[in-house]
Amino acid sequence: MILMEINQVIAAYFSPTYSTRDIVLTISSEIQHSPKQIDLSIYDNRETSYSFSSHELVVLGVPVYGGRVPADAAKRIHNLHGNNTPIILVAVYGNREFEDTLIELKDIVVSNGFIPVAAAAPVAQHSIIHSIAAGRPNAQDIQQARDFSKKVQDKLKKTVVLTQQDCIQLPGNQPYKKYGVIPLHPKAGHNCIQCGKCASNCPVHAIPQDHPDQTNTEQCISCMRCIVVCPKHARGLNPIVKAATANKLKKVCSQPKENLWIL
Ligand SMILES: Cc1cc2nc3c(=O)[nH]c(=O)nc-3n(C[C@H](O)[C@H](O)[C@H](O)COP(=O)(O)O)c2cc1C
Ligand code: SF4
Ligand code: SF4
Repeated sequence: MILMEINQVIAAYFSPTYSTRDIVLTISSEIQHSPKQIDLSIYDNRETSYSFSSHELVVLGVPVYGGRVPADAAKRIHNLHGNNTPIILVAVYGNREFEDTLIELKDIVVSNGFIPVAAAAPVAQHSIIHSIAAGRPNAQDIQQARDFSKKVQDKLKKTVVLTQQDCIQLPGNQPYKKYGVIPLHPKAGHNCIQCGKCASNCPVHAIPQDHPDQTNTEQCISCMRCIVVCPKHARGLNPIVKAATANKLKKVCSQPKENLWIL
């Protein structure tokens, strides 16, 4: 009997505020020290095409936006091509719900030649309202991610040849939930030194490089990366709008939610 052999692990993620990246790396590093990384949040990677063999394992992560895969992430994931390639799907959510994100992610990758062998919906700090799920993933969450990774390895070690029959079942509905998140566009304040870091890091280039105090609201996906990367803490949301969002979210996010690990 020849068991399935994995030669390379690839950590691929769309992760504006880095929590998805960190969780994907925790899972992948447990399988292979220093996995190859593909950062789909980088604007210049948006049209790059990647192909994988059946001897590679991809760990793919996205944050949950309105219970869905962020639209720009979905477009970029369409450029990942598998050849019966095993894939672990990760939908990181901010303690509200992940709804149809995993099933949408699965549909995209299956149509592109991947075989989902495991999936997870771990909780991380909410990237808009940081007081929600603050400090998560915590030590316990990280340990759970490592244990999950070990179980996936055991599962793959027992596998001889992977076929679409091995594809896991995932929660969620089709047709997917309609995306209904109210857009929130950060703006620069007086502290801005025009360094351009927010502009070069914006996943969709919604901030003009020559006018980083402005935001193209048509392009902005409300991902909050510009706030996180600004060295002067100059970017932020309108405080009234932010307070209203916090009130609304706290009503549905106050109780700590569980991570979901599916094998
Ligand atoms: C536009 C937007 C929509 C979001 N929608 C949801 C949601 O529907 N459910 C949820 O639990 N968290 C939601 N979140 C929170 C993120 O999924 C969560 O904070 C995630 O960890 C962010 O990942 P990142 O750090 O890789 O950007 C949303 C965040 C943003 C920016
Ligand atoms: S990163 Fe901050 S300081 Fe630099 S241009 Fe953007 S808003 Fe201004
Ligand atoms: S301008 Fe919008 S899309 Fe760009 S980093 Fe800021 S929040 Fe994200």
